[in-house]
Amino acid sequence: MIDILNSIKTDSISKINGIDSLHELDQLKSFLLGKKSPLMDVLKDIPNIPVDERPVVGKQANQLKQDLTNKINEKREELINKERDIFLNQDTTDVTLPTTGLPNGSYHPITIVTRRVCSILNRYGYAIKQGPNIETDFNNFEALNIAENHPARDMHDTFYLKNKSVLRTHTSPVQIRTMLTQEPPIKMIAPGKVYRCDADVSHSPVFHQVEGLYVDKHVSFADLKGTLESFLRELFGNDHDIRFRSSYFPFTEPSVEVDVSYTINGKTTWLEIMGAGMVQRNVFRQVSYNPDEYTGFAFGLGIERIAMILYEIDNIRLFYENDKRFLTQF
Ligand code: DAH
Repeated sequence: MIDILNSIKTDSISKINGIDSLHELDQLKSFLLGKKSPLMDVLKDIPNIPVDERPVVGKQANQLKQDLTNKINEKREELINKERDIFLNQDTTDVTLPTTGLPNGSYHPITIVTRRVCSILNRYGYAIKQGPNIETDFNNFEALNIAENHPARDMHDTFYLKNKSVLRTHTSPVQIRTMLTQEPPIKMIAPGKVYRCDADVSHSPVFHQVEGLYVDKHVSFADLKGTLESFLRELFGNDHDIRFRSSYFPFTEPSVEVDVSYTINGKTTWLEIMGAGMVQRNVFRQVSYNPDEYTGFAFGLGIERIAMILYEIDNIRLFYENDKRFLTQF
């Protein structure tokens, strides 16, 4: 028996030494130590040998099993290291090669259009103001003459937050913030994000507006028309028609909506891009301005809509998908 074990040992060690891959090593392991291996045959045969030889043979067989297991594990370690070295040597990087340079970034179309709108109006004397995205119910609705339970609140599908605050549904609350902290004359614009529970090809739950407000003595509807017409001519050039339509907003009286002609996929339609009007007397009362002394006009325009017209885009979602093929065109 001892002789058999010795020859198993010599034979197994030379087989392990000859192995060259992890796959072969796994096969060899089951051949040497598996249920049908020569070593297991010896162990199974122990009950059949003389009693006094059993402890010696048993001990030696178990020792051999342990030795072979260790040997196989060492071999495995060695093969893993070898394979890793081969992989690392194949995949060398020449760090001395010149780089190809990083591609330049570009501005998002919403940023480009917002800047164009603001730069034109800035030139007309409108100062840029900002307000928070989380607004009070007072600034977003009440001060704008949209009282509690007023049906006009249905016009906005509002994201309500705790403590009566809301994600602002329009940039109009920046009008209120400005008038509460400044006396007329006021000429301000406010670009920013606004939020509504709404989503389809022409509506997104987050979108961008630019608000405008002009308050002084003797501001008239003619000023509103003149300012907006001149602004829209500069923005759209002569390729687009513009029309004013009478409309309704609680915070302006009279109110208008402005449409711009828009040709997409060979079809020309009107796209509404802004609301505007003469500031409602109740709004002035809310900010303690005397409506008999001051008049003013306000407007709020949609940046996505303007970008869709200027760049002939038919789906608002393209602005938010961050697809580089889209974004690098501007
Ligand atoms: N806040 C309105 C909206 O989001 C747009 C608007 C209409 C703003 C008329 C104005 C305005 O300042 O005078 O639908």
